[in-house]
Amino acid sequence: MTLKKQSILVAGGGSTFTPGIIMMLLDNLDTFPIRQIKFYDNDGDRQKQIADACEIILNERAPEIEFVATTDPATAFTDIDFVMAHIRVGKYAMREKDEKIPLKYGVIGQETCGPGGISYGMRSIGGVLELIDYMEEYSPDAWMLNYSNPAAIVAEATRKLRPNSRIINICDMPVGIEYRMADILGLKSRKDFVVRYYGLNHFGWWTDIRDHEGNDLMPKLKEWVHEHGYVTPEELADASEEEVEESWMHTYEKAKEVSWLDEDTLPNTYLKYYLYPQDEVAIANPDYTRANEVMDHREKQVFSECNQVVNYGSGAKTTLKADDHASYIVDLARALAYNTRERMLLIVPNNGSIVNFDPTAMVEIPCIITSNGPEPLVTGEIPRFQKGLMEQQVAVEKLVVEAWSEGSYQKLWQAITLSRTVPNARVAKQILDDLIEANASYWPELS
Ligand code: NAD
Ligand code: G6P
Ligand code: MN
Repeated sequence: MTLKKQSILVAGGGSTFTPGIIMMLLDNLDTFPIRQIKFYDNDGDRQKQIADACEIILNERAPEIEFVATTDPATAFTDIDFVMAHIRVGKYAMREKDEKIPLKYGVIGQETCGPGGISYGMRSIGGVLELIDYMEEYSPDAWMLNYSNPAAIVAEATRKLRPNSRIINICDMPVGIEYRMADILGLKSRKDFVVRYYGLNHFGWWTDIRDHEGNDLMPKLKEWVHEHGYVTPEELADASEEEVEESWMHTYEKAKEVSWLDEDTLPNTYLKYYLYPQDEVAIANPDYTRANEVMDHREKQVFSECNQVVNYGSGAKTTLKADDHASYIVDLARALAYNTRERMLLIVPNNGSIVNFDPTAMVEIPCIITSNGPEPLVTGEIPRFQKGLMEQQVAVEKLVVEAWSEGSYQKLWQAITLSRTVPNARVAKQILDDLIEANASYWPELS
């Protein structure tokens, strides 16, 4: 059977993740054939550096694929099957403020969790809604695969404000942890097992992990994670070839302490911010946060590699490579395009899956993906500990979206106050007032 060739738009073409996605698409052309790739960004200069390199690589490896990079929405969104969206409204300069402002008050400064995530959410909502509106105008049958952060808040905003849009929100963190689980279990691939998982984005738990014969792999994994977190055996033996930044290594180690809270499940790494906030603040450097680390490392490295490809006029020697984690994006697009019925974790309306939880909450759960979209699986009842944590966090996320659409200062203050990362309402207000000043050109006016 010949597969229909797809037309892809990468929105946020200037993202540090764009080259990895292009390399990954090139590696998968046999099962996900492509006729056209377009890039769209609202910063033409930033995008051009990435686009010029990608164009050279595409010409060398798949000259039949048409390539266009543009800042014009009509050119970008016309004749598209999939929009792969990874924008960062306000770019790293604003991420740095999101992280540093809460830290001034002794509160977690993080891209997606706590006040930093709320701040980023207030910028992202408008940007992602604009992408949806362009897609609906120019390619109404397309799917948007969104991994622009903060995915939890963005997902709630699209559920509430664009309820009929063809957007699917996804995250790579469970996939990244499952790569580590496979290493810990000595398996070749995360596809050697099937998982059950529930939660919110960056806020969830694995409840069951089995190989294809149905053998329970949880006992062995739990034993390891309770002692070493998600640090792999190679890393523990200092024999790993892959270079992992120290801040991420700390996160994988910290999962150990997070896992002790519940004997029945295995946690997402991001729960450390909610369960041990003071520990994270204690090791943070308020003058040099993760945004600085990313600007000094990933951003510099990706842009200098792209500039080198352009200078050589060839990608033959480039170190740019397929982003392993990004393979789930192709899996999802392939499932939607060709009805593979692949099972994946997606961020979808609960709608009864977790029976004792708000049906309107956006939850991260396993779904079967068909050409008509995701069919979520039933989760059943969840325990009181997780339910309590999730209810508080869902309230934060919903209040942010209400604050954004109503322009409500009060609701945003409530949202920040309700975050487990914030000690009290007075500190919440101080952080909020600083964030309002820093985000003047990005947030709706609040009153
Ligand atoms: P980046 O700043 O390198 O790239 C983002 C690009 O988006 C920039 O080129 C910027 O100009 C562009 N942009 C900003 N606002 C825009 C708008 N309104 N319209 C069009 N383009 C716009 O950022 P990055 O570190 O590469 O990350 C990109 C996004 O992907 C972030 O939101 C990040 O959090 C997210 N991400 C999510 C996951 C996940 O698991 N969901 C994983 C990795 C990255
Ligand atoms: C994980 C998360 C993403 C997040 C990223 C941050 O992959 O799932 O949602 O964007 O980490 O990574 P960074 O390297 O930018 O700090
Ligand atoms: Mn994520």
